Amino acid sequence: MKIKNLSMAFLCLASLGAKAQQGPVYLDPNAPLESRVQDALSRMTTHEKVRILHAQSKFTSAGVPRLGIRELHHSDGPHGVRAEVDWNSWNSANWNNDSIVAFPSLTCLAATWNREMSAIYGTAIGEEFAFRGKDLLLGPGTTIARMPLNGRSFEYMGEDPYLAGELAVPYIQNVQKSGVGCCLKHFFLNNQEVDRFTVNVNVSERAIYEIYLPAFKKCVQEGHVWTIMGSYNLWKNVHCCQNDELLNKILKQQWGFDGAVVSDWGGVTDTWQAALGGMDIEMGSYTNGKTVDQNLGWNKYFLADPFEELINEGKIPMDVLNDKAARVLRTIFRTSMNANKAIGSQCSEAHYDACQQIGEEGIVLLKNDKSILPLEASRYAKVLVVGENATRSLTEGGGSSELKTKFDISPLEGIKSIFGQVDYARGYVSGRALYDQTDKISPDTLASLRAEAIDAARKADLVIYVGGLNKNTHEDCEANDRLSYDLSFEQNELIAGLAKVNKNVVVVTFGGNPFATPWIGDVKAMLHCWYLGSMAGTSLANVLTGKVNPSGKLPVTWAVNQNDYPCFKYGQEGYPGVNKQVYYKEGIYVGYRYFDTNKVRPQFPFGYGLSYTTFKYGKATVSSPSLTSDGSVTVSVPVTNVGKVEGKEIVQLYIGDEKCSVDRPVKELKNFCKLSLKPGETKTATFTVRPSDLEFYDEAKHQFVAEPGMFKAYVCASETDVRSAVAFELK
Ligand code: BGC
Repeated sequence: MKIKNLSMAFLCLASLGAKAQQGPVYLDPNAPLESRVQDALSRMTTHEKVRILHAQSKFTSAGVPRLGIRELHHSDGPHGVRAEVDWNSWNSANWNNDSIVAFPSLTCLAATWNREMSAIYGTAIGEEFAFRGKDLLLGPGTTIARMPLNGRSFEYMGEDPYLAGELAVPYIQNVQKSGVGCCLKHFFLNNQEVDRFTVNVNVSERAIYEIYLPAFKKCVQEGHVWTIMGSYNLWKNVHCCQNDELLNKILKQQWGFDGAVVSDWGGVTDTWQAALGGMDIEMGSYTNGKTVDQNLGWNKYFLADPFEELINEGKIPMDVLNDKAARVLRTIFRTSMNANKAIGSQCSEAHYDACQQIGEEGIVLLKNDKSILPLEASRYAKVLVVGENATRSLTEGGGSSELKTKFDISPLEGIKSIFGQVDYARGYVSGRALYDQTDKISPDTLASLRAEAIDAARKADLVIYVGGLNKNTHEDCEANDRLSYDLSFEQNELIAGLAKVNKNVVVVTFGGNPFATPWIGDVKAMLHCWYLGSMAGTSLANVLTGKVNPSGKLPVTWAVNQNDYPCFKYGQEGYPGVNKQVYYKEGIYVGYRYFDTNKVRPQFPFGYGLSYTTFKYGKATVSSPSLTSDGSVTVSVPVTNVGKVEGKEIVQLYIGDEKCSVDRPVKELKNFCKLSLKPGETKTATFTVRPSDLEFYDEAKHQFVAEPGMFKAYVCASETDVRSAVAFELK
């Protein structure tokens, strides 16, 4: 009987995609999704339903072999397809066909402020995942950048929920066009890596609805993301992977999410909570059966045998199991059994082009004194490149997002392509990836590398410094946060030393977070590159030479000092927590909302970035002096490129509430657009403003409210650079 069913299932599978289907509805790719789900469900035993709710290897969860229902192949994410590991361990599987394209970090994507770049990113990475036979891409991440030391900021999209949501949605939609599902991370409040498995986040209801949830909500409701990953940390003293209020009430009931919640690896800790708290696919657990790997022990998972027993004993209703199984089946039919799943491709020319282009648009020009950039190669006879990141692989390390690339073009190779011959001095050393910075590198080693670089800098006409953060532990790396806001490995001393002996120092930095720049007044220029992936050197060279005019802007506020950030105002309670309790006492005042409202001057504000040309903004106008609760107004502003080269400008719309019954930030980002302008050309940026853009979360009413009265629309080139403002009234 078994064999007969199996062969029939395979026959039907083989003809997936053919027009008329005979046989079970669940195997008919043209049948409506819900009919397939219900049909499959009706044929499955209790055991088979439980079986699809948990891992069967490090990165797969089971299907139903008897019915020919395929398993799900998961992979990190979010910047490229991760290299294969063994079935049952973290050891490399040593494949020789899993080298891929590393795309720029998601922080870099956010810095493009370009929804089109996100779509290009999604298409390309989706094709790579499809080609590698993956069904779920573990990403993107829309965790809000609350704290600049967070070891995983580079995998997320900055401090503003509107920007993060807008930039995540096209990525998701375009990945999913390939029949690969995104698994949105990490839901939610995973704003630090210190104590990530145990810390409970205490945060106001208003802050979760205004700051920490909206980007996720947008990905669910507009991006229609197919799966979402619960985070390790706790909220209301319950782990987010099994948190009824978060997963059932908010995500599934309030937002209407119909896909599956996947646990972070090892994020489930309890059968009852996981069963009743909305978890659908349990991955990576360290249950007893799994601490010793030899017996496999996947049936020991919390959502395996222990759950099945409770179902069989009638202690947990069958509906709970059916709902979870239906969500997983929906995911399987959308991905591994999607007749339109793309074949995809790996390392195609188009993917490298996408990588390069996104990188070029995400690089942010932070300083450019006397227009030293773009570089005119012929002006400099002797060029010196200093800094480890010029040659170091920045795709290795960092934790689960680590990538094994076919090739990377290093910054040094990129710079050499501009000048031909250059000299190189390492300047500092950071140790291998995963090197634990608490074992300090000897000061003597650093001093001698520094002296050598400074000596070489004396004789150079131009110094290009390439440093910043890297993917070591305690830099930009999962499982730990940075130890300080300063750059490590004595880079501050090194850059200051270079600037003392050479007047033409251009600083190029990599990293997912801001850091102190005490030498900024002494260097001529600074470019921040996040992580640029495989084409790093080419993207960088094109911006340095002006082949590409920089157009990225910061998705985070870059403070002068660590303690300027609001999360550090409350001692250990604010970060990293006391007795595993962390308190977000700054509430909704995260990032620029705090700096702006409290008049704290940042080093570089949110939304800031320079260009090789100049943009002039005209006067903003509003289509009507007022709007009603079901109406809208349009805010328009002409922008002209008054410089000599073509460029792109990110025009930002912020809204401020002039008078309100509760405290509100001076202004908040509500829209943006990126205009491409030839010299002399003018285009008009037009934004629609609706009452929902005027709302705040009312804790007494437990809902969003827009209070009638006067509002101001600020048209800005950065959060602090208001070019024009116009008032209107909500009636
Ligand atoms: C990370 C996830 C990742 C998973 C699988 C976890 O430790 O937090 O982001 O997807 O491992 O590698």
